Amino acid sequence: MPFPEKFKVKNICCIGAGYVGGPTMAVIAKKCPNINVFVVDIDKNKINDWNNQDLSKLPVYEPGLEEIIKLCRNKNLFFSTDIENCISKADIVFISVNTPTKKRGIGAGKASDLKWVENCARQVAQFAKNHTIVVEKSTLPVRTAEVIQNILKIAQRKTTHHKSSPSFEVLSNPEFLSEGNAINDLENPDRVLIGGENQNSVETLSKIYKNWVPESKILHTNIWSSELAKLTANAFLAQRISSINSISAICEETGADVREVSRAIGTDNRIGSKFLDSGPGFGGSCFKKDILNLVYLAKFYGLHEVAEFWESVVKINTWHQSRISQLVIKNLYGTLAGKKIVILGFAFKANTNDTRESAAIQICKDLLNEGANLIIHDPKVNPNQIAKDLGIDQFNNEEVNQFAENYDGLGSWKFSRNLEIFDDAYAVLVLTEWTEYGLINWEEKAHKMIHPAWIFDARSIIDSDKVKKAEINLWRVGDGS
Ligand code: NAD
Ligand code: UGA
Repeated sequence: MPFPEKFKVKNICCIGAGYVGGPTMAVIAKKCPNINVFVVDIDKNKINDWNNQDLSKLPVYEPGLEEIIKLCRNKNLFFSTDIENCISKADIVFISVNTPTKKRGIGAGKASDLKWVENCARQVAQFAKNHTIVVEKSTLPVRTAEVIQNILKIAQRKTTHHKSSPSFEVLSNPEFLSEGNAINDLENPDRVLIGGENQNSVETLSKIYKNWVPESKILHTNIWSSELAKLTANAFLAQRISSINSISAICEETGADVREVSRAIGTDNRIGSKFLDSGPGFGGSCFKKDILNLVYLAKFYGLHEVAEFWESVVKINTWHQSRISQLVIKNLYGTLAGKKIVILGFAFKANTNDTRESAAIQICKDLLNEGANLIIHDPKVNPNQIAKDLGIDQFNNEEVNQFAENYDGLGSWKFSRNLEIFDDAYAVLVLTEWTEYGLINWEEKAHKMIHPAWIFDARSIIDSDKVKKAEINLWRVGDGS
């Protein structure tokens, strides 16, 4: 079917109101005031939260997001559960749903579970009325566009006897935003990648972005390159973190300092200075899942050495997280039973309320397994989410919590939104780099803690001189000096 003449984008629908769909569409609405943007989701609570008058209740925390929602919501940006209606009037449909790793069946533990994407394609096939450009915004395995095209083609065939039969074009337009910096990344992207065969469709989508992105930053590729480039970008970023974290372990053994090593290698402009901060191991919903997806792809094509190479990036990350738990246990004399430990930060990085794959989850589970009593602080994460992540409820009974002697069961945890939590603590673990943790007055806290007291700083944000002055022992990731 030829591309319709005078095709003009008046309405956009985005399926999936999550960490990508919400912020991305908010920025499109802000930059394109003449286009109506409808963001739909099957999760009614999430849509209610997006429509909440109290902007601090939005389901996604991102610096700068509230202002855009305030500016555009119910003007040209709408959050709705009316998927049928929003798809039927859309000229462009973005698919921005979750694509987690498959839990069972063929490819379990590696391949992406595409059931949500397939459902979207079926919804578009069922409800679209006119020519519709379908855009893959989700991160997808290479050649997923083929699956979407097949589903849409069948819909096209089924409806050709109707008066108004829809027609479709599929494009790949992966998202590169990083959480906590999403609005800035969306407003000033390094590049916008559009993969597709039909030049009119590619140009139509490019035109949207040209409202604020310089043309030189809009890259056009074939659809498979675009899909693969997204997985590859995440794999390369994650690989740098595993590389520097592996070096941090060598630093600790040899007297080198990983911050100095990072600076020294990062000034080589062939290497570059970004993504060289050693931390508690990478988290976030995508790095692990996208690398495992790449591993699956490589194995599928019989490229076993390639698969092993990328799988090792994930293996180092898992090893590095357990290395941190183990050294906490070792430094607290091999037992955590009944010991109070303060956890600073549960989000997978600062400036987000997202905990998906956060290093804090596995590290806290390891400490709980040793019987520790954790006090977890995070300025943005919801404690209900922590309960889900740890698989145990928050502990409320103060009396039973009195560190019973000879107790050797599972530890407990409590949440605090304030930082008055250091009384009787044996140790503090810094797991997220929230700025406020760098401002804590350790001399004031030291006398409240049980000595020898420890700070384990997995983010290198604590002032080591001040901690030493406060006579607290300090372990910093990658600090062998
Ligand atoms: P998310 O889980 O926050 O949001 C996905 C939303 O889609 C959920 O609210 C879910 O209810 C909804 N959904 C699922 N099926 C639906 C359907 N059939 N109809 C309507 N709604 C449906 O996920 P996310 O973090 O926004 O990620 C989405 C995609 O973007 C993933 O493929 C991810 O890999 C990719 N991505 C994520 C990031 C990130 O920073 N989070 C960055 C770049 C790319
Ligand atoms: C990452 C990519 O940076 C985005 O480009 C991509 O769009 C996104 O994944 C995605 O596809 O989901 P995000 O996961 O939001 O973004 O956050 P990052 O800043 O990449 O951080 C990921 C993890 O690596 C965090 O746990 C962070 O603390 C850690 N990290 C990052 C380090 O340990 N050291 C660093 O130097 C940088």
